[in-house]
Amino acid sequence: MAKKISYGIDFGTTNSTIAYINERDEPVKLKIDPNADNPCVMRSVIYVNQKLDMLFGKPAVDAYITDVALNKESKKRIIETGRMIKVAQPANAGGFVPDKIVPEIIEVEESDGGRLLQALKSNLSSQIVSNINLFGSNKPIEWVVGQFLKEMKQRADEIIGESINKVVIGRPVEYVGGNNQLAIDRMRSAAKIAGFKEIEFEYEPIAAAYDYGIDIKNKQISLIYDFGGGTLDISIVRFPEKEVLANVGLPIGGDHFNTKIFTSELSQYFGKGSKYGLRQLSLPESIFASMKNWYLISLLKTESFANSIEHFKFMNTNPKALLALKSLVFNNLGFGIYEEIEKVKKNLSSKEFEKYNFIAKDIEINTTITKNVFEKIIQDDLVNIDKTINKALKAANIKSEEIDAVATTGGSSLIPAIYKQLQNKFGAKKIKESDAFTSVAAGLAHRAKEIFSR
Ligand SMILES: Nc1ncnc2c1ncn2[C@@H]1O[C@H](COP(=O)(O)OP(=O)(O)OP(=O)(O)O)[C@@H](O)[C@H]1O
Ligand SMILES: [Mg+2]
Repeated sequence: MAKKISYGIDFGTTNSTIAYINERDEPVKLKIDPNADNPCVMRSVIYVNQKLDMLFGKPAVDAYITDVALNKESKKRIIETGRMIKVAQPANAGGFVPDKIVPEIIEVEESDGGRLLQALKSNLSSQIVSNINLFGSNKPIEWVVGQFLKEMKQRADEIIGESINKVVIGRPVEYVGGNNQLAIDRMRSAAKIAGFKEIEFEYEPIAAAYDYGIDIKNKQISLIYDFGGGTLDISIVRFPEKEVLANVGLPIGGDHFNTKIFTSELSQYFGKGSKYGLRQLSLPESIFASMKNWYLISLLKTESFANSIEHFKFMNTNPKALLALKSLVFNNLGFGIYEEIEKVKKNLSSKEFEKYNFIAKDIEINTTITKNVFEKIIQDDLVNIDKTINKALKAANIKSEEIDAVATTGGSSLIPAIYKQLQNKFGAKKIKESDAFTSVAAGLAHRAKEIFSR
């Protein structure tokens, strides 16, 4: 007999999880990435090669790292197609000039290696990024996300032994970049591409509230605090009615902290602060703006940037840093640099300091990042977070003392400075930690059961 179940999918900026509710009414998180540290949590990444074959999650990261280690660079090549085409000629003073027939020449990208796509969720609401160019073929972002969701669905269906067509997908209160409706429309199309027939959405913090509040029978008002890789989402919910009193979001998350660590602690190894030329100018700020994440770094890999680096070499006060910058961009090291930041940041949640080591061609970084420094770097974010909590309290029309419990989830909620802030505001006794990486999916599964059994 069909199990009549539905899925909850948490498609996160960094991690994705899928769950359903079993016959004992318990959430089951499916092990869709068997080789990952936590097999229930699949990294939201896609590795794609020239033939548009794809890998997802841990195998995707491993394949990309192998490519970089083997130095499989993509190259551009100009080829003649063998066809002849008409080219319009500019009109001259004499008037009409007939089209010219010339051989067609196109640029093709060649590579044995593939490309890694990451933080797709942060682009879902972007009007600029509507297509992703995969080795010369333009794919709509909903198609790309659809491939990821399709893989999640297939792996989950395989474990369950049945094709499940109903899903509740989580959404942040505010997508990075705004345009929430655009992002939701694209997610709906992606879910259809993945093969889902009935698709509903729920706010991620409300989903977390469902998971947290499952056994709550007495009256209480809870603040749900979901701090992930891309966004912070806060809901205030009255139990046991599950009445939503407020929903607010702030489009910053763990990725933003990684950028801050790079900018403040590592950019000097790549030329920040150095001077060049007769007038001893600083390198253009746009270069460092392009280092906000590893993907942007990969976009610097152009001939014109290689020429710029040659230009900056003249009378440069830090020639070593220029070599490092060149190696970072042209040897595809951005991903590795940012992975190491991620590791250090996570370790700083349980240590006072952590070493940052990165050794590669022309790059040698051996430094230590302290928790103290990290907390200073994110000080202005903590102020914004405090304002966001206050905004939620105001929207719910309650005071902080009236909050009975604060339920935290999301990887970035593990940062001690975040915990301390909540503790100062609400008191340690009220803070309840949910599973940082799976509680949203579990709550979405509860919601799915509720919605689809109506
Ligand atoms: N121990 C830790 N200390 C600090 N940060 C951590 C820790 N573990 C994970 N993170 C951060 O948490 C983020 C991932 O959390 P999570 O899986 O909840 O996000 P997500 O659901 O993918 O993102 P979002 O909900 O914003 O779309 C990453 O930025 C990661 O660096
Ligand atoms: Mg999340």
